[in-house]
Amino acid sequence: MDSEEFRTWSRRAADWGADYRDTVRDMPVRPQVAPGSILKQVAASPPEQAEPMEAIFSDFEAKIMPGMTHWQHPRFFAYFPANAARVSVIAEYLVTAVASQCMLWQTSPAATELETKMIDWLRQALGLPEGFSGVIQDSASSATLAAVLTMRERALNWDGNKKGLPGQKRLRVYCSNQVHTSIDRAIWVAGIGDENLVRIPTTGSLRSMDAAALEAAIRADKEAGFLPAGIVACVGGTSTGGTDDIAAVAEIARRHDLYLHVDAAWAGAAMICPEYRPFWKGSELADSIVFNPHKWLGASFDCSIQFVRDPESHVRTLAIKPEYLKTHGHDGVINYSEWTVTLGRRFRALKLWFLMRAHGLDGLRTMIRNHVSWSSDLAERLAKEPDFEIVTKPMLSLFSFRHRVGGGQDADEHNLRLVNAINDDGRIYLTQTRVDDQVAIRFQVGQFEAKREDVEAAYDVIVEVARSLS
Ligand SMILES: Cc1ncc(COP(=O)(O)O)c(C=O)c1O
Repeated sequence: MDSEEFRTWSRRAADWGADYRDTVRDMPVRPQVAPGSILKQVAASPPEQAEPMEAIFSDFEAKIMPGMTHWQHPRFFAYFPANAARVSVIAEYLVTAVASQCMLWQTSPAATELETKMIDWLRQALGLPEGFSGVIQDSASSATLAAVLTMRERALNWDGNKKGLPGQKRLRVYCSNQVHTSIDRAIWVAGIGDENLVRIPTTGSLRSMDAAALEAAIRADKEAGFLPAGIVACVGGTSTGGTDDIAAVAEIARRHDLYLHVDAAWAGAAMICPEYRPFWKGSELADSIVFNPHKWLGASFDCSIQFVRDPESHVRTLAIKPEYLKTHGHDGVINYSEWTVTLGRRFRALKLWFLMRAHGLDGLRTMIRNHVSWSSDLAERLAKEPDFEIVTKPMLSLFSFRHRVGGGQDADEHNLRLVNAINDDGRIYLTQTRVDDQVAIRFQVGQFEAKREDVEAAYDVIVEVARSLS
């Protein structure tokens, strides 16, 4: 591709993106395609000869876009959001054009130093005390893996990496039954083993880890000869927003000298609003905290912040320095790849810088407060309908509900049919979960450009589709 063509197609792509964002609200949120239908349309083998960009671009529009789910649709209420604010898209375009590898300070000093500054901006924005530093990971899963590896190594006095796990005491890690599956995977990958992830029962409407049960489990494990290594607490669990009492958990972690990692991947963004901070009171005592600006805040995927209280223990766990990665003569700089499992690193800090400057923390707070308030209004309206029940009350902007069924009907089967029918309708997009072993429908408001009317429209769709099925 020559320079002229690059310029032409870059402009075309930018125009396409702007048109897409302006029209996405009129598209069905989830595509109406059968499995395998896109596969059939793409050539079976790669071309031997170069093809014109016009043909490639028109295939993108004709064959690919009809199979895309529109995560930037203002009526995307499924999962958690994956917001990519327009300004973040511009930053990503620049990052992709420059395309630097940001693994060491010297492989892109500006990327490293902006990362340090953005971590500190976010620390302040979230009301965390000085003393936390951190790193931008690709995902919360990677951050949690780094935390679990560090808790393992700390407990084993850094012998795990050296000698392996056989012959060591059996490690134990504690969490509630509300945590995301990325915790399970981190435990598997770290070689700790699923049987050593101890699930503590939860209590109360926030489904918080039962502190007394946690304390008892740790004591019993110690007596039985296990080696407790750490606790993973959560604020805003994926299913229904389950949230631990972090202060109570932190006190137990301190008493037993355990590493505490807090997963606030989704809910962390809300902590830019001081009034939501009671939800994670005690997080300032954690060893690490993960939150994803690529979920609610608006920095496009991938952008996951891991705040760390003692970077030394992370670096001691993860840093590896073959000759070709040594940065002779530059002591005292940060090489962020020493804090992560991956070596190669994208320049993720730029989109945070653009996002926070273009919207201001105040603009971002308004978005989050609106979402929380619109979600609560919707839950109240649904609660007033005799054929609907609220299963879990709003935790920030997430709640779950169920459509009641008549005698003899299977409620789970009916509510699954309802989610499918709503999603086939296309005007909104929702997902389901299980609460106390029964199907419930999740609803979260979080899309960056959602308006009050979009949430009100969701009410109409839910009620209309549910009644059409009954
Ligand atoms: C609470 C929670 N933790 C962790 C994750 C994993 O996030 P990521 O996709 O960044 O690995 C999710 C994903 O939705 C989540 O909801």
